[in-house]
Amino acid sequence: MLELINIGKSFSSVKVLKNINLKINRNEIHAIVGENGAGKSTLMKIIYGEHSPTEGTLIINGEKRNHYSPSEALHEGIVMVHQESSLVPTLSVYENIFLGRWNSSKTNKNYLVKKKELISLTREILRKMGVYHISPEKRVSSLSIGDKQIVEIAKSLSFNPKILILDEPTAALSIEETNILFSILKTLKENGVTILYISHRLEEIFQIAERVTVLRNGEIVYNDFVNKININELISKMIGREITNKYPEKINKTSGKIVLQVVDLTSSYFKKITFEIHEGEILGISGLMGCGSTQMGESLFGLRKINGGNIHYYGERFFPKNPSICIKHGIFYVPADRHSLGLVLKRSVKENYTLPNLDFFAKYGILKINKEKQDCYRTINQLNIKISNLNQKVENLSGGNQQKLVIGKWIVRQPKLLIMDEPTRGVDVGAKYEIYKKIYELSSKGIAILLISTDIDEIHNLCDRILVMSEGRITGTLYPENSTKEEILALAVKGKEDINSQEFEVINN
Ligand SMILES: Nc1ncnc2c1ncn2[C@@H]1O[C@H](COP(=O)(O)OP(=O)(O)OP(=O)(O)O)[C@@H](O)[C@H]1O
Ligand SMILES: [Mg+2]
Repeated sequence: MLELINIGKSFSSVKVLKNINLKINRNEIHAIVGENGAGKSTLMKIIYGEHSPTEGTLIINGEKRNHYSPSEALHEGIVMVHQESSLVPTLSVYENIFLGRWNSSKTNKNYLVKKKELISLTREILRKMGVYHISPEKRVSSLSIGDKQIVEIAKSLSFNPKILILDEPTAALSIEETNILFSILKTLKENGVTILYISHRLEEIFQIAERVTVLRNGEIVYNDFVNKININELISKMIGREITNKYPEKINKTSGKIVLQVVDLTSSYFKKITFEIHEGEILGISGLMGCGSTQMGESLFGLRKINGGNIHYYGERFFPKNPSICIKHGIFYVPADRHSLGLVLKRSVKENYTLPNLDFFAKYGILKINKEKQDCYRTINQLNIKISNLNQKVENLSGGNQQKLVIGKWIVRQPKLLIMDEPTRGVDVGAKYEIYKKIYELSSKGIAILLISTDIDEIHNLCDRILVMSEGRITGTLYPENSTKEEILALAVKGKEDINSQEFEVINN
């Protein structure tokens, strides 16, 4: 179906892919894995026609194709779901799905778009995916990051792909949505579609792929059947060393005073949320996508309106009116959506790092350039962020390295309360370990950490206590040492049956 011969790619003088020789068979799910910055996305973008290779040849369906555009790729049936959202936020779901395809069959005789038809086609695709909660007419900007991902996948399916490239499709999906995606992929495969699948959730590779290719520093270091390798061997091929535990040793600590006490917090996304978090505690908030946890994190950082309830911070009444008030009080926030909330993509690594910390690096309004540089380098080394130099634009970093920068710029200082939403999304196993270690280190210093994550494994292993949310409410509190992941999942889906539809409407208002 697809053959790559000696493919190489350089950006300026930096070589990011070398001597790539790869054959992809029809009908196979082929996984591509590797550390952050290994070159996975770049290689996929070459197949999709978004980048042209600096060296080598590409053969698609027996035909040599060296320079072609994404629209020609689409014509060949090559479709790519990008790692980062490529949707137009101001358009609706159905407009995004059919964008660029409003040809004569989709317009009436007055050249007006057949809106109703497109809406029902969109609904049909979403239904086939088992998705009922996304309205085709909803604006994409109002969707959560996970729902955006679902729309991206729906869009790709609407092209009837022959080769489907999925770059980290499940990074923002919870177990439920991931399982739905897998059953769709299996059906596509049975219908003759070839799937190229990138993921940092390595267990997934063993669940769905037949073959796996490991990239390391731009080169292929392994290419064979999945059943010939186990997960530990795969990790050591990826990162060049063994990792026996995904999670570091827990550090002994005692939890201290109550940092934040939230009582009956209510907004249009969540209802009557009550909890407290202590100094040094890692409190996990688990739930399926759309459970309201992201919005709750945003509200606590002053990014969203709160309609009711009250908050005490170190015993005093506190209202998170806006993020700068929160920062002044030592409440920091790592957002889930790195592209729209976490980074200024057109700016450099250094500028992004300094932006929330200007008061820390400046005196009398003048930036201490050396301190800024030293500090930035220290964090980059600590989290092993792969950059070419401090002035490199953030948009040119690989997805996982962008994520590490989003975290790095907040943990440079000592917050009192750190709210992290999906902090390890798209981060490779080695780097995840480093981030977890950092989380333990911060909590042992008395910093309270509110960890919002749809990754149940992460929540179960990392947290001292877990609150589970469903449909905007807390459905249970668990302690990881005497509960199972299945119990978390059961609570995460619980509210779905309990809450009647009338109330559900109020929540989603
Ligand atoms: N447009 C670009 N300009 C300059 N450098 C780039 C560009 N795109 C990618 N790179 C560099 O190429 C290298 C490989 O990046 P790529 O995005 O392919 O990594 P990846 O394997 O997909 O990583 P991740 O798992 O983090 O997504 C990185 O060092 C990145 O900084
Ligand atoms: Mg990538």
